[in-house]
Amino acid sequence: MRALVTGGCGFIGSHVVRGLIADGWEVTNLDRMTYAANPANVAEVADHPRYRFVEGDICDGQLVRELAAGADLVLNFAAETHVDRSLLEPGVFVRTDVEGVVTLLEAVREQPGTALVHMSTDEVFGSIPAPGEAAEDAPFAPSSPYAASKAAAELMVRAYAETYGMAVTVLRCCNVYGPNQHLEKFIPLFTMRALAGEPMPLYGDGLQEREWLFVEDFVDALRLVLRELPAAPGVHAVHIGSGERVANRRVAELICELLERPAELITPVADRPGHDRRYALDSSRLRARGWAPRRRFAEGLAETVAWYREHGEAWAQTANGDFARYFERQYGARLARR
Ligand code: DAU
Repeated sequence: MRALVTGGCGFIGSHVVRGLIADGWEVTNLDRMTYAANPANVAEVADHPRYRFVEGDICDGQLVRELAAGADLVLNFAAETHVDRSLLEPGVFVRTDVEGVVTLLEAVREQPGTALVHMSTDEVFGSIPAPGEAAEDAPFAPSSPYAASKAAAELMVRAYAETYGMAVTVLRCCNVYGPNQHLEKFIPLFTMRALAGEPMPLYGDGLQEREWLFVEDFVDALRLVLRELPAAPGVHAVHIGSGERVANRRVAELICELLERPAELITPVADRPGHDRRYALDSSRLRARGWAPRRRFAEGLAETVAWYREHGEAWAQTANGDFARYFERQYGARLARR
């Protein structure tokens, strides 16, 4: 079986690429190599006979059509993913996360034998007050330009499914963490800052809750989904959540405990505008199909923190983009003002 994976040099995409290769798939990885890509993420499969890398953009219609033509499956992990960056440059998100998805839909529409699986997010629902959980048919209420771009992409998927009778699977996932995640994200950022003995910038009161899933558990969920891909026209939404919802402040404290650093490094700073308080997915449908995460958060966090302690510095050296510059733009004034 042949898969086209987009965004395969990013965090989740690279774990998926490696998982599919291990499962016997032939994989083409289409990646634009933005700041979020790191060639080290796919280094272990780079010379594999069933792996091919193509540098390119999911908005390039001709390229995407050519690559989709040879694939049984297109898996879309190419996206601008960071909420804070979407507040700085929303247009970039509309281009990749919405236009890019339309380009993929167009390509797959012309290939009736090709299935499309698109990665979405729990953020399309906005904040979910406790003790609620968002089911697959919950209404969209995105808060950030990032979340709105993902919701818009889902609406385009829906329109294509309705109009052209396409079957598209949409994965809505909670916060994924693990090795190879970009330093801009909460757990890697706080881990590297704690290791360096630098202030860890906690937004607002730190009582916002996120639902955390270890990346290998996500890949296992995807494996199950791929074994049972529905062919009936329509949008087939799958919720993938761990059920482990933890306040940010607690996550920061756990990181300090794991690294034996003082909790005083946790530094409250000005909140993220439009910051959702809580995400919570109802994943009971997927669980009824036989999936459950294998790692508890405490275990996965310890493994992740240990990975960054050992590899973080060297791995960050091979990443694209200028993280120091971004850090200054995002946190300079916040940390100076505290
Ligand atoms: O929920 C799924 C989503 O999770 C994905 O769709 C997004 O692509 C992914 O970026 C992630 O979004 P979040 O905004 O939840 O992740 P982030 O790591 O940016 O932040 C996690 C929480 O930590 C959030 O409540 C904001 C807070 N935070 C984050 C950073 C970077 C801080 O308090 N300080 C920080 O410096």
